[in-house]
Amino acid sequence: MKILLCLILLLIATYSTNGKRWDKIKSNSLEHDVFRSYKIRTSNFSGCPSFSANGVSIDKSIVKDVKVDTSMFNFQTCNKLGTQFPNYFFNFFSLEVNNNSTNNGSSDGSNSEDYHDIDISKISVGYMPTFIIEYAENNNVDGFQYGGDEILGYINLSKQKYSLTKDQVQLEGNNGKNFTVYRFDVATENNVFQMAFYISGAPINVGDVKLSAEQSKVDVSIINYYNESINVRSKNCLFDSKLIKNLNCASTGPSNNTQSRLAITSFFATKSKTIDFDEKNKNDSKIQLKNEEISAGFSWVTEASVTDNKGVTTNVKVISNTSDFSKFTDFGALMIKESFRNGFFQSKFIIHSFDSIRPNNLTHDPVLGGESSLDSSSTSSSSSSLTILLSFIVSLSLTISLLI
Ligand SMILES: *[C@@H]1O[C@H](CO)[C@@H](O)[C@H](O)[C@H]1NC(C)=O
Ligand SMILES: *[C@@H]1O[C@H](CO)[C@@H](O)[C@H](O)[C@H]1NC(C)=O
Ligand SMILES: *[C@@H]1O[C@H](CO)[C@@H](O)[C@H](O)[C@H]1NC(C)=O
Ligand SMILES: *[C@@H]1O[C@H](CO)[C@@H](O)[C@H](O)[C@H]1NC(C)=O
Ligand SMILES: *[C@@H]1O[C@H](CO)[C@@H](O)[C@H](O)[C@H]1NC(C)=O
Ligand SMILES: *[C@@H]1O[C@H](CO)[C@@H](O)[C@H](O)[C@H]1NC(C)=O
Ligand SMILES: *[C@@H]1O[C@H](CO)[C@@H](O)[C@H](O)[C@H]1NC(C)=O
Ligand SMILES: *[C@@H]1O[C@H](CO)[C@@H](O)[C@H](O)[C@H]1NC(C)=O
Ligand SMILES: *[C@@H]1O[C@H](CO)[C@@H](O)[C@H](O)[C@H]1NC(C)=O
Ligand SMILES: *[C@@H]1O[C@H](CO)[C@@H](O)[C@H](O)[C@H]1NC(C)=O
Ligand SMILES: *[C@@H]1O[C@H](CO)[C@@H](O)[C@H](O)[C@H]1NC(C)=O
Repeated sequence: MKILLCLILLLIATYSTNGKRWDKIKSNSLEHDVFRSYKIRTSNFSGCPSFSANGVSIDKSIVKDVKVDTSMFNFQTCNKLGTQFPNYFFNFFSLEVNNNSTNNGSSDGSNSEDYHDIDISKISVGYMPTFIIEYAENNNVDGFQYGGDEILGYINLSKQKYSLTKDQVQLEGNNGKNFTVYRFDVATENNVFQMAFYISGAPINVGDVKLSAEQSKVDVSIINYYNESINVRSKNCLFDSKLIKNLNCASTGPSNNTQSRLAITSFFATKSKTIDFDEKNKNDSKIQLKNEEISAGFSWVTEASVTDNKGVTTNVKVISNTSDFSKFTDFGALMIKESFRNGFFQSKFIIHSFDSIRPNNLTHDPVLGGESSLDSSSTSSSSSSLTILLSFIVSLSLTISLLI
């Protein structure tokens, strides 16, 4: 039994060090960031892969005067009815500890040193890609416009079977401490739609993208969409309409249109009431929620990498359009509403269109998560027993919030 375990560990270790895209990851330092210890869980319950990464901060928090915070990423591919689009959530909890013993009204009053006022602040945001759209640019406005451009085909991302694999690597931080970078690869059965998620225990660079320990990068790839023996048209899929409405195909298969382009539709949502969408950023590469101490959101690089059928890779423009979610039920707006069962939420519908004709391989990389908005480093360190107590409370409150 032990030998088997060792073998498995050895296998994992070998696989990690030979891993594919680890070479583009480098340790980085961000002044206000922290180290995190992520606890990872993956599941394949009833063939629906999912993962969660629960990262408790070590020694300090990204929020001023706070001892510990938790950053949590959750990815799912199914709901109970098996009709969910893949969705990725970021939750952030911080605890404000006040040992100013004003709180002495408790009943037994025996261990007064355990009385702390604890404030939990919470940020919750989600990203849900819903369709790959194949379109013809008909209206001379850059990018795909629903109603303006012709839809040539699509892939419904809720009707795919997914697989998930996990990989990890240890890096040494700038302070000499080691941390772990995790990578999760999710792909449809035919590998046409792929997502690679990066989560790190300390700030890193992944290629040109800076990532804090509470952000996650997602490489979204569309590969061999135009090969009809790979992207096979679903049985009984009657796609003759130019609308996406009332159609029930997992994939329509590719069209033969020589001017065909691709786009990805998605939703970004939050249930935070106190935080507003930052509408000021007109560059359209970012949707940001800001409170005083952390800014959370969703951002993307405005170029995507494309490989043509001769194997030549170039960068192309990503045209993005962000609008209110409510008019886009055809694209899954009701599903994002459903995943925020507890009433209030705000959401945006995002179209990312890729300025390339019939690309073979296409990779785009949005970033989800948070970042400290402190302007001076918070250096409060805490006794380890307090940290353990607080992390327990964090997980507990998390569990409670998930149950409610
Ligand atoms: C996940 O479950 C599906 C269906 O039950 C199975 O075909 C697949 O091999 C499983 N994947 C892993 C990694 O176990
Ligand atoms: C809280 O207690 C610690 C020692 O237990 C002390 O160093 C710190 O200054 C106290 N903070 C406040 C706000 O009283
Ligand atoms: C401690 O409590 C007193 C009285 O409630 C208050 O005036 C003071 O600001 C508090 N100090 C801190 C650090 O919270
Ligand atoms: C603790 O409670 C007592 C009685 O209720 C009160 O007189 C005292 O001011 C309280 N102490 C603090 C620090 O609030
Ligand atoms: C950090 O990891 C390297 C291997 O990647 C190992 O040799 C080293 O001992 C580790 N250092 C600490 C402090 O754990
Ligand atoms: C399409 O995919 C099939 C199966 O992988 C492959 O044999 C074929 O060469 C591909 N066609 C093109 C045009 O790349
Ligand atoms: C996509 O799939 C969902 C269920 O998985 C379905 O409700 C929806 O109608 C489908 N949309 C299209 C355009 O096929
Ligand atoms: C595209 O062209 C091929 C070969 O001419 C044909 O077999 C296929 O049915 C066409 N596909 C569509 C969607 O028209
Ligand atoms: C918008 O983003 C692009 C690409 O990141 C950058 O080159 C450009 O300067 C930005 N424009 C503004 C107005 O921020
Ligand atoms: C597409 O990307 C995959 C993985 O990045 C690579 O193995 C493959 O060679 C690429 N295909 C083409 C046609 O560039
Ligand atoms: C963005 O999307 C909205 C809603 O579909 C549409 O009215 C508008 O024309 C689009 N703008 C651009 C520049 O694509």
